Amino acid sequence: MAQSKTTRIGILTAGGDCPGLNAAIRAVAKAARGEYGIEILGIYDGFAGLIENRWRVLDWDDLSGLLTLGGTMLRTSRAKPHMYPAPGGGVVDMTGVACENYRAMGLDCLVCLGGGGTQKNAMKLVEAGCNVLTLPKTIDNDVARTDVCFGFDTAVAIGTEAIDRLHSTADSHRRIMVLELMGNKAGWLALAAGVAGGADAILIPEIPFDLEVVAESIRERDRRGKRFSIVAVAEGAEPRGGFVDDDQYVDAGEGHHVATRVGRRLEKLTGLEARVTVLGYVQRGGSPTATDRLLATRLGSAAAQLLAEGEYNVMVASRGEGWKAVPLEKVAGKRRTVPLDHELIAAARLIGTSFGDD
Ligand code: F6P
Repeated sequence: MAQSKTTRIGILTAGGDCPGLNAAIRAVAKAARGEYGIEILGIYDGFAGLIENRWRVLDWDDLSGLLTLGGTMLRTSRAKPHMYPAPGGGVVDMTGVACENYRAMGLDCLVCLGGGGTQKNAMKLVEAGCNVLTLPKTIDNDVARTDVCFGFDTAVAIGTEAIDRLHSTADSHRRIMVLELMGNKAGWLALAAGVAGGADAILIPEIPFDLEVVAESIRERDRRGKRFSIVAVAEGAEPRGGFVDDDQYVDAGEGHHVATRVGRRLEKLTGLEARVTVLGYVQRGGSPTATDRLLATRLGSAAAQLLAEGEYNVMVASRGEGWKAVPLEKVAGKRRTVPLDHELIAAARLIGTSFGDD
């Protein structure tokens, strides 16, 4: 067994789940335990389990069959130690309790698998005296200082398949199909799935849109004999100047999904029929793609190496074909959105995709 400066770790998954979390747990735990003899405590329900002492030692048997499984075997929550729901209502700072439990569990380091919120919560534990090591996961792909997050590739594949399937029904009915994708305040998912699926317009938070511009691109397609148009819209996308709560955007009585607003307005502007699909949590479910399995395995095993070296308070970031340990303070509280000069935006524009901005 190789030498290790770490003897006992806790591992938790926090924030929204995504495909690849179990593959990453497996990689961290198998490498940490098998190669370095590190004992692994699985903490349940994200930071809530740390505060409420829900954990158990993970044995070899627990680590089998995880690679292909969606969700997270450790379950998750959006609990924040520094803003924890108080019994009588309101919130209370439980950072101190989380750190006391960390010490009582005899941990050398807490491994947190999560997105932007988790990186921030983890940093607060570091400031309170715990050792932490994080991995970047999220279908939103918006964690700072990493090329990519695991979970993203799978969500892109699901979004792409949805667009593929919308094509034939759109064509049959001569319709506009508006597909809403997740992504929070970043457009990575809508952009990647939109380009891969060949959407005719892609609307993302980074580029405020004008629906008159989108409508004109759809009319132009119609004039050229194209019987349908597909619009991929990120849940966080907004029109120039923001949404106006008048009948321009809210006249459908179908809730406030951006896709609904976009669909109804495009119907009015083009005279064509529009239909709306909100893909929702389907994007977060099921088995990870091979790419996500590879990423989760690479980053998870790298985390074990860092633990053995006693290198804490970093995020294991993906860099090209490899990985890099990035100080957590450079990641926490930051969001990576799509740069306006991103080559995928440029490529899409060149092939005639509308972003609703010109
Ligand atoms: O961060 C992942 C994500 O799926 C976002 O794309 C989405 O905005 C959000 O989580 C939904 O959160 P919840 O699971 O709390 O409804």
